[in-house]
Parts: sequence; structure tokens; C-alpha cells
Amino acid sequence: MNICVVGTGYVGLVTGVVFADLGNEVVCVDKDERKVELLRSGRSPIYEPGVEELIGRGMEEGRLRFSTDLARAVRESEVVFIAVGTPSLPSGDPDMGQVEQVAREIAGALNGYKIIVNKSTVPVGSGNYVRDLITRYAAADVDIDVVSNPEFLREGQAVYDTFNPDRIVIGATNQRAAMKIMELYAPLERPMLMTDLASAELIKYASNCFLALKISYINAISRLCEKAGADVTLVAKGMGYDQRIGAAFLQAGLGYGGSCFPKDVAALISTGDKYECDMGILRSVQKVNDAQPVHFVSKIRDTLGGLKGKTIALLGLAFKPNTDDLRDAKSIEITALLTKEGATVRAFDPAAAERFESLYPQLYYAANAYDAAEGADAVALVTEWNEFKQLNLERLRAVMRQPYLFDGRNIYNPARVRAAGLVYEGIGRPREPERA
Ligand code: UDX
Repeated sequence: MNICVVGTGYVGLVTGVVFADLGNEVVCVDKDERKVELLRSGRSPIYEPGVEELIGRGMEEGRLRFSTDLARAVRESEVVFIAVGTPSLPSGDPDMGQVEQVAREIAGALNGYKIIVNKSTVPVGSGNYVRDLITRYAAADVDIDVVSNPEFLREGQAVYDTFNPDRIVIGATNQRAAMKIMELYAPLERPMLMTDLASAELIKYASNCFLALKISYINAISRLCEKAGADVTLVAKGMGYDQRIGAAFLQAGLGYGGSCFPKDVAALISTGDKYECDMGILRSVQKVNDAQPVHFVSKIRDTLGGLKGKTIALLGLAFKPNTDDLRDAKSIEITALLTKEGATVRAFDPAAAERFESLYPQLYYAANAYDAAEGADAVALVTEWNEFKQLNLERLRAVMRQPYLFDGRNIYNPARVRAAGLVYEGIGRPREPERA
């Protein structure tokens, strides 16, 4: 099938390279010439395992191209995916500017029947809106169908998720369009769900907000654990065995960040307001999430007896491991809080340090975790990169000024940390082990 994917961010690029790998003829379009040049040289503008291999293979075998010429790519394609960004506006609504722009350009290029597929995360009602826009701006009478096909891939494992989705959701207004998109996904042999447009659009938001809710729920429980002397990692484990609950997304920590959850929760609250449907439950999710980094810093402050003049080593800056993405990363807020109160921050991240440096040029950027801990009063684990899980804690302790380890993601065994001569403090875990 001839496909055009507009937008080469995480969603667009990974979708494009995977469809090419499945044997389709794919043109990935972006208005950013530098990005397109980089892609043509076989390199990926995003840090994502496996993407460059797929770019190389697709180009070599002649099925994958990169272009800035949207009109030509649309004319050559049967199916056009819209996968451009929809960042949050201050109101919480997604900014539909890029989607609108692309819809108009598609309208101007139409030369026959096309299926326009919305892959960008857009509020319920957007499919109809895009169809109306295209019909209004099309040069001649056109025959198009608009399909909603939300994307559920996770950064850091985007290629795996795209080849192995839990489900493929296809929201369409007629069989003809739905069948065509089903055909495209058939080689993956994964469950497919056909719905109307509005339901498909809501499935994306309802899923992401539910995952955010699980995280905030366990973070709220972690606060109770701290007061009651319980260990949230054990509570989560005990809950997770219940198949109705499931173990995933029950890791208490510094809260969710990234490009999706914060934005999608805000957007669903705003959609609720528009339909006069109070999403109070999601306001609570936001409230718990916003409080986590503040609570973490207050633990450090209380333990050290103030932050002025103290040195804190931050391990991990990216919003989660295996990415260099800093969107809504908790490290940003934690650094702001620490430095505002006069602490010195020494930071290390295996991938995101360079980007962080443009936000905070005044910090010391360490070569590794031990270098970051040199002379520190406390080490604060912010992102659970694998390489931090097996640190030599005795070596870490030896270079620190004071022995405090704040584990923002509960990756360490407290007894093991204490045995290395460090004072351990996690999230929702007892300060000292209960005496038997
Ligand atoms: C998420 C969704 O998982 C994906 O389906 C959607 O398409 C995009 O948004 P992503 O943002 O890449 O993906 O990351 P994810 O692995 O889901 O983690 C999101 C955030 O939640 C991270 O900040 C992570 O640290 C946090 N998290 C996750 C927790 O705090 N606890 C958990 O148990 C799980």
C-alpha cells in the first residue's frame, strides 16, 4: 500500500518505519528540512532503540523515503496518517494548530479518494472536525474518509510496541475505510477493535488517564504507608497479584511525567468541562502527581536540616529510563526547588544530560554516578536507569560527605543500602526496618 505519514516525531516516525518494514511504500513528511536531511542520511532525530536499523533497511530496499513535499506525498498515497504534535495550551486543551495546518495542506493536494487517519492524540470530535476542514478547503469535490487510529506506543520501546500492540483501535464512519486500515495492520496479527470515531478518540484518553490514575493512586497510598510504617512496594505487590488490578503501573515514585500523561489528563478534564461533565477524579490525579516532587524535596530538606549550602547529587534526569526526553521530567522541578533554596546540584544522566544543560547551564554535569556523588550530602535517585540498580554502594558512600540516599523510584533494597553505611529513604517505605 502507498502510505504517507505526516510528522516525524516519536509516533509518526516509528509508524512510518514499521509500515515500511511490513512491505508498504512509505513517505514520511516533515516541514523541518534539517530533520528530513538527517533522516535521509539514515540517522534518527529521536533517541529510540531500533529506529535507525529500520530506517536503514527501509531506505536500502527502496520502500521508505523522507520528504518535505507534503502535497506530492499525499497525491502518491492512498492512506495519509496525521501524526503531528498536539502540545498542551495553558487551558489544558491540546493545541490543534499543526493538525489544522496539515488538514488544509492535504485538502489542497487531493487528487482522488484518500483515507485520512488521525494518529495524533486529539480530543473527541476531532475526526469530524478534520473531515469538515478538508472538505471545506479542498479544491474540488472530494471523496475522503477520516479514521481515528490512536497510538499507544511508549517511548524507549516504541518499535517493540508498534510491532506488538496490545490492541489496534480503528474508529471509522464506514466499512470501506475501516477494512483498508485493518488490511494494513493485518500482518501484525494483533487484536483489532472497530468503533465509531468518537469512541476511538476517547479510548486513547481514557486509557492514558486510567494509567495516570493508577500511578497517582499508588502514590497516595505511599503517603499513608509513610505515616503508618508500611512498605508501599509490598502493598503494590499484594495488590498486583489480583488479576482484576494487575501489577503494572503501581510503582510509587516521583509521579508521572513525559509527553503524554500530564497533557492527556489536562485535556480530558477540559473535554469534561466542555460537555459539563465534571472530571473531579482526574483533578485529584493531577493534585497527587503535582505533590510528589515537592514532598520528595521536603524529605531531603528535613533530613539534612535545610538545603542552604548542601550538595545534592541527582541520578537520572530523563522523565523515565531509556530516553533523553525531558518533557515534564521530575528532575526539572526538583532541581528548581533545590537550587532556589541554596543547594548545589551535581547531576548525571546517561542520555539526557546534554539537553538538561541547556535548561540549567550552571550545574555540574558528572561523568558517572560516583562522580556526581563526590562530596555530596545526599544522593537523590530521580530516574531508574538500569545502570543505577547495580551501583557499588560502598564506593558511593566513600566519596560522599554525608550518608543520605533518597530513592525516588524505590529501586534499592533498603537493607542492602543500610549495610553499605548509607541512610536510606524511599517513597512510602519505613524509615527504619520494623524490629522483629
Ligand atoms: C505513555 C503510555 O504508556 C503510552 O501508552 C502512550 O502512548 C504514551 O504515554 P510514555 O509516556 O512513553 O507512554 O511512558 P510510560 O512508560 O507509560 O511512563 C509514563 C510516566 O509514568 C513516567 O514518568 C514513569 O516514570 C511514570 N510511571 C510509570 C510511574 O511513576 N509509575 C509506574 O508504575 C509507571
